Amino acid sequence: MITATDLEVRAGARTLLSAPGPALRIQPGDRIGLVGRNGAGKTTTLRILAGETEPYAGTVVRSGELGYLPQDPKEGDLDVLAKDRVLSARGLDSILHEMEKQQALMAEAADDKVRDRAVAKYGRLEERFSALGGYVAESEAARICNSLGLPDRVLGQPLRTLSGGQRRRIELARILFAASDGSGKSTTTLLLDEPTNHLDADSITWLRGFLQNHDGGLIVISHDVDLLADVVNKVWFLDAVRGEADVYNMGWKRYLDARATDEQRRKRERANAEKKASALRSQAAKLGAKATKATAAQNMLKRAERMLDSLDDERVADRTAKIRFPDPAPCGKTPLMASSLTKAYGSLEIFAGVDLAIDKGSRVVVLGLNGAGKTTLLKVLAGVETHDTGTIEPGFGLKIGYFAQEHDTLDDDATVWENIRHAAPDAGEQDLRGLLGAFMFTGPQLEQPAGTLSGGEKTRLTLAGLVSSAANVLLLDEPTNNLDPISREQVLDALRSYSGAVVLVTHDPGAAAALDPQRVILLPDGTEDHWSDEYQELIELA
Ligand SMILES: Nc1ncnc2c1ncn2[C@@H]1O[C@H](COP(=O)(O)OP(=O)(O)OP(=O)(O)O)[C@@H](O)[C@H]1O
Ligand SMILES: [Mg+2]
Repeated sequence: MITATDLEVRAGARTLLSAPGPALRIQPGDRIGLVGRNGAGKTTTLRILAGETEPYAGTVVRSGELGYLPQDPKEGDLDVLAKDRVLSARGLDSILHEMEKQQALMAEAADDKVRDRAVAKYGRLEERFSALGGYVAESEAARICNSLGLPDRVLGQPLRTLSGGQRRRIELARILFAASDGSGKSTTTLLLDEPTNHLDADSITWLRGFLQNHDGGLIVISHDVDLLADVVNKVWFLDAVRGEADVYNMGWKRYLDARATDEQRRKRERANAEKKASALRSQAAKLGAKATKATAAQNMLKRAERMLDSLDDERVADRTAKIRFPDPAPCGKTPLMASSLTKAYGSLEIFAGVDLAIDKGSRVVVLGLNGAGKTTLLKVLAGVETHDTGTIEPGFGLKIGYFAQEHDTLDDDATVWENIRHAAPDAGEQDLRGLLGAFMFTGPQLEQPAGTLSGGEKTRLTLAGLVSSAANVLLLDEPTNNLDPISREQVLDALRSYSGAVVLVTHDPGAAAALDPQRVILLPDGTEDHWSDEYQELIELA
């Protein structure tokens, strides 16, 4: 259970959220969807509830076990085996370790007393181990991992060798494993920040079922509305403009209706207040002409101002800009070609014999199951990963823009402005400012270090950086992860009207549909085909 009282959350000088009283509370059985635009403060609020960071004001009281999945995967000890990382969630790895120690003592001890003590201790440890489901734990952990698209092979690898997406899935598996503590009813409170990023459709379906059956409390931040509709029974809406959280004690569908009604009411109130304020103003103007009534006029003006101040600023609320990707640099007929590309990690073949020719302005989707090498293929084409055999032939004028899953092309310590400057050193300052504006970065945010941006803001900045260099071949790996529905539409819109070539990896059927692709490359074989509705369906299933 978690209760936040008089919570106030700030970022820099901005108040993201102020929630007076015990407004925010998570109890067993609560399945809360925490929603709001990119940058509204969802991640910051969840981190505070999880105890990762302190609020600006207010108190947070927690009881019971917590499982927190951050939006950005943490860099822990990368030499740990994936399987051990998952098992460590219930402390099983350390009990096992202690059992081994007592076993050694039992074997070596010359003194009967020492041996007896070791035997007794071993017995107690063993009891705990089995009470925690130790003996079935390994298979249970493996089951959860497999459901999240992590095969046994991956579980035997050290975290260091896993992709960012795989590592994040390991973290999710670890938390769910802890929460399903073998004994049936779970009292763990789950705090999950965008858990469906990097999951394929099957895994998302499985996760949905898991969360629906979870008995402890749950807060989930997600832009996946289907997941929200199926899982949540309460909604907290963070309004970035008012800096308030609206608590709706109802499921997703009813929430959507209630929100629409609320917005209409606010609109009406605003219109009313504006009418009254302007009446007050014009009266004040008439009165102000007479010296004797100057004070009364002043008071009226003040009242009018107060009235308007207390209104929500609607205009900023859903700030939507039309994002337009700049024109790509000129290039030859086929800016990027590759033949017989092969890639293996150790003895594990990822893909083999991949041929491709990316023509100017063409649109290609790369399809394949989790682990089929989609991300690796993009990395190889982008030149950030080596291939084993085969050749990559850059055509005339090739300029690649590579969007990585984990935003690892951003310099976290540099500001937003420095990052974009670095991405396009030759572009004019005015052009860059205009571009950043179109991607909704203005004012003080230009000076913000990129590392402090929200997930969706990082995605937006990375995309701005890509296109600012006039790239003519975009290699996009899951570009819609982290984007709120409105921002996602804007980006897809821009993609639709972009005249350069695009190679897209995505689990988001809407993204593929928006691209309106001509061709598909199927991994791991690298077979090429014309795009068709069948492939569109495959994305929904894959
Ligand atoms: N040090 C800082 N200075 C100024 N602003 C900051 C700082 N740290 C964070 N912010 C801003 O706080 C806001 C809230 O960030 P947060 O990560 O909580 O958003 P979010 O709702 O999770 O968004 P998303 O949907 O994109 O993940 C963002 O606009 C972010 O840029
Ligand atoms: Mg976030």
